[in-house]
Amino acid sequence: MKYLIANWKSYITDRKEANSLFLGVKKTIQKNSGCKVIICPPYPFLSDASESNLTIGAQDVFWEKNGAYTGEVTLDMLKNLNVEYVILGHSERRAYLGETDDIINKKLKAALKAGFKVVLCVGEKQRKEPNVIPSVVADQVKAAFLDIPKSKVCNVVVAYEPIWAIGTGLSDTPDNAYQAALYIKKTIGKIYNPKIGTNIKFLYGGSVNSKNILDFISHHGIDGVLVGSASTKKEEFAKMIKLVG
Ligand code: 13P
Repeated sequence: MKYLIANWKSYITDRKEANSLFLGVKKTIQKNSGCKVIICPPYPFLSDASESNLTIGAQDVFWEKNGAYTGEVTLDMLKNLNVEYVILGHSERRAYLGETDDIINKKLKAALKAGFKVVLCVGEKQRKEPNVIPSVVADQVKAAFLDIPKSKVCNVVVAYEPIWAIGTGLSDTPDNAYQAALYIKKTIGKIYNPKIGTNIKFLYGGSVNSKNILDFISHHGIDGVLVGSASTKKEEFAKMIKLVG
């Protein structure tokens, strides 16, 4: 089953609007159950999402269990809200919040230990050659998986999101995304073993919308998409679910 993951980022700020979107998604997936839709709203709307019985993810999490960490949201708090997934390593957090590979590794370890599924984002700022995936992508993958036990890797979905394709309308080509999939699978295969590398789920993200979603989804080796702004538009996202489901 293909993944359709909605990263609302901080686009939606109004609770009523959030609830209207939850309702829309719920209605659409009732009639289109052929894909796995996961909604990742901002923290304040997770409780409402949970009540809507959607599969939900958080856009981040803190690595410590609890304590004096002003402003942080912990894994136990998310568990109480039936959150199943967490997005980690998003390039916006790397760029604006100073998240390092080390921080991402700590979060990944903690989230997997606590039984969450993780959408791990990687991606380069730019490419030297248009069709060659830069080695920084492998570096990000290696750093994230440092000391992650083999048995937990199946709970990670890797999302390749080239930064230049995010929010720009300039999506990568499905063929390049597939090259990234092979590169990432090979990197993970070297860390663990080829079978684990082959089996890891791979998503593409970056300017995916109803016009191009099928090009990615139907491409061999791409298990789904991580969608930003298009997932916050009711009609547009319903259209995307229908196309995939
Ligand atoms: P856009 O779909 O808005 O380009 O964002 C992609 C993204 O960053 C999803 O995590």
